[in-house]
Amino acid sequence: MSKVIAISNQKGGVGKTTTAINLSSGLSYMGKKVLLIDFDAQGNASQGLLAITKRGQPSIYNVLLEDMDPEQVIVHKQEPAIDILPANITLAGADLELDKIGNGKEQILKKRLASIKDQYDYIIIDCPPSLGILNTNALTAADSVLIPVQCEYYALEGVTQLLLTIRLVQQLYNPDLRIEGILMTMFDIRTKLSVEVSQDVRQNFGKQVYQTSIPRNIKLSEAPSRGMSIFEYDVTSAGAKAYGELTKELVKRNERG
Ligand SMILES: Nc1ncnc2c1ncn2[C@@H]1O[C@H](COP(=O)(O)OP(=O)(O)OP(=O)(O)O)[C@@H](O)[C@H]1O
Ligand SMILES: [Mg+2]
Repeated sequence: MSKVIAISNQKGGVGKTTTAINLSSGLSYMGKKVLLIDFDAQGNASQGLLAITKRGQPSIYNVLLEDMDPEQVIVHKQEPAIDILPANITLAGADLELDKIGNGKEQILKKRLASIKDQYDYIIIDCPPSLGILNTNALTAADSVLIPVQCEYYALEGVTQLLLTIRLVQQLYNPDLRIEGILMTMFDIRTKLSVEVSQDVRQNFGKQVYQTSIPRNIKLSEAPSRGMSIFEYDVTSAGAKAYGELTKELVKRNERG
């Protein structure tokens, strides 16, 4: 059975894309069939895996707004094997165009994925840092939301706002939407702040928070510039170890029982 996971947090720079790339890669190394959807006009997930190579290359924009067959847009990456629906700056105009559609504009991504969904074990959506119509499309297409939370002040406020949005999407478009898990990112054991924020989030959200935290690790920020996931860039790094653990924890939660 296929599972669609949106990686979402309207706050910028909290580790959504880093998590999308490395979780997708981790799942692939575990033998899962994975589709990674870059749903951000910044195109960071596409660039980080070298999925956008030429000008005018079709992207998720063409799938969303021109009903292009996703099969024509998907980039098949090897080692690890990940299928990628890339994004580029054209997606920046999608908000306005989706708004014009009116009725059903929140369900477009879900509709477009229907024909390919069953080919995959996991579909990971890297969401943009906003709560606009693209994010709503992602949450409507998803079975669950994974929320990366950076270990810093105001982390909880952002999560509270996102949870309200999730509740709204549940009420209006997707009653079955679940919280996949909350992931503490850029954790630095040496700083009091990291430890406090992590404790605070764990107190508030209990078992929804993954046991695995992602440490602040320079290798994680270097890997995308080489077009690699952390597992090819430096499999011995603390970042690779953490994303490996996260992948196992996520799969265990999903496949028990
Ligand atoms: N655990 C980490 N350790 C060190 N650097 C990290 C870590 N996670 C992410 N980064 C770096 O922090 C920056 C922001 O991360 P990332 O792009 O994953 O966040 P994002 O939530 O996708 O951002 P945006 O909201 O702009 O899409 C990037 O430069 C990334 O390489
Ligand atoms: Mg991003």
